[in-house]
Amino acid sequence: MSTENENLTWHDASVTREHKENLLKQKSKLLWFTGLSGSGKSTVANSLDIILNESGQATYLLDGDNIRLGINSDLGFSLQDRNENIRRIGEIGKLFVDAGLITIACFISPLKANRDMVRAALGNDFIEVFVDCPLDECEKRDPKNLYKKARAGVIKEFTGISSPYEKPENPEIIINTNELSIDECVDKILEYIKCLG
Ligand code: ADX
Repeated sequence: MSTENENLTWHDASVTREHKENLLKQKSKLLWFTGLSGSGKSTVANSLDIILNESGQATYLLDGDNIRLGINSDLGFSLQDRNENIRRIGEIGKLFVDAGLITIACFISPLKANRDMVRAALGNDFIEVFVDCPLDECEKRDPKNLYKKARAGVIKEFTGISSPYEKPENPEIIINTNELSIDECVDKILEYIKCLG
């Protein structure tokens, strides 16, 4: 801990997370989508977001490209920068959960250690959703033409090609976007959330 941190004191707010959850009539959670670029994270998360909103839940969607165009625009794709990217998003996710929101985060988050750091910070509020899709299928889809650029060496340190992706070992939910439709993936996640009550 730095010397500056030693001079800081945490203040508990009088209006607690419980108050906010009661106001919103819901229990907040952080649904953490991890998977390769092109695996379908954003697509499934966006459909889930729509369904939850239609059923009266207050949500917030945190998405890789959007966050990197804003608060994390100073970060690149080295493993060190990805670590900082996930650390900041974990902190943001924690704030949103504290605000009572069902928070959906979609980030490649390729390293297990980084995802586990967020899990440790959120405990039972963290639900890991592994968006499982084989690399060759993601590459076939290549919706942003990034795999083509990565294979040509134009993009360096590209996940799955020239930078690692570590699959989750014990995710709460696995959705295989190569076998299930978007609706089926969303249903699987909704089933899990319903079981949590
Ligand atoms: S993470 O690895 O740090 O979690 P994040 O999810 O924020 O990545 O951003 C991934 C998005 O950035 C991809 O969907 C893709 O559009 C874009 N991107 C640009 N360069 C790279 C790269 N080298 N590796 C992976 N994604 C990249």
